[in-house]
Amino acid sequence: MKTLIFGILVGLTHISYGQAPYLKDRYNFPIGASINPRLVSENNAYRNVAITEFTSITAENHMKMMLVHPEANRFDFSKGDEIVTFAKDHKKRIHGHTLVWHNQVPKWMNEFSGDTQAWENMLKNHIQEVARHYKGQVAGWDVVNESFLDDGSLRPTVWSKNIPDYIAKSFQWAHEADPNAILFYNDYGQDGKPKKMQAILNLVKDLQARNIPIHGLGLQMHININSKNDELVNVINQSAKTGLTIHFSELDIAVNPKNDSMFVYHETAKKAQQEKFELVFKAYQELPKHQQYGITFWNVSDRDSWLRGYFKRPKEYPLLFDDTYTRKPIYSKLLN
Ligand code: XIL
Repeated sequence: MKTLIFGILVGLTHISYGQAPYLKDRYNFPIGASINPRLVSENNAYRNVAITEFTSITAENHMKMMLVHPEANRFDFSKGDEIVTFAKDHKKRIHGHTLVWHNQVPKWMNEFSGDTQAWENMLKNHIQEVARHYKGQVAGWDVVNESFLDDGSLRPTVWSKNIPDYIAKSFQWAHEADPNAILFYNDYGQDGKPKKMQAILNLVKDLQARNIPIHGLGLQMHININSKNDELVNVINQSAKTGLTIHFSELDIAVNPKNDSMFVYHETAKKAQQEKFELVFKAYQELPKHQQYGITFWNVSDRDSWLRGYFKRPKEYPLLFDDTYTRKPIYSKLLN
């Protein structure tokens, strides 16, 4: 009898505690990652973490202009589709990134020449072909990415130089092509840059006053351990006050922002990073439920982070999974 009861107890314990708890179950909003299709297919550990840990997927690069529209008369959705298939196979939400940006623009677009009408037709065609292709598959789109400078002025780009009112037009065109998609304006570094933040709030007001469909704000959240808590909380609250859906769209927390080649990922840095992650999750969790689109990390493990590759910063450790795809201690802190 004793052994039977013991056996039942052990069984029950295994049912309730046998599985390591997951962040995606702890928080009742999507937890996402941007991914790279090559790593999904070549790296089993990467693939497993992507499958088990995340409920939302963003293409890190493969829905951007340069990759989906390499030539004026040619679209290439092959890699973006691979990501969509992966996400669908594993029942993940898909977030579209990004329709209009000044980086990763194909050469032919940068060299495009024509009058205003020709520029408009070109951009409209791009937005609508891509949005139609992924219609019904993506939940939302970062329609326009990074339009403002730190001083709040409109960033000089091929788009702002050649298409008057390009932001509003882009939202309109995207909405025509996929009326069900949640449409975001996405940007970085609003914290400590009140003029940039204000420019974004002004944009939202202006679009709303003109009945232009904008539904969400993406805060990229490429922050670091020195980012100021009050400034972060402030921009999160200001963004939420618009009433729009909020996405922390590209979260990573740099520990070695100055790229010190002698940097060691020591306890002090780990603790500072942990506290910053806790602040970000807490602030997000406090948003009204209907404004929570989710928190997306910018790739899966430290070794996949763009901060190492793009910024050539080998000693950077900005994510929740280490170089061996193991959860860092921070992960369990976020569970509590
Ligand atoms: C980055 C990717 O992570 C890199 O692989 C690529 O070389 C450059 O773009 N803001 C954005 C993202 O909106 O699209 C950027 O992604 C990071 C900054």
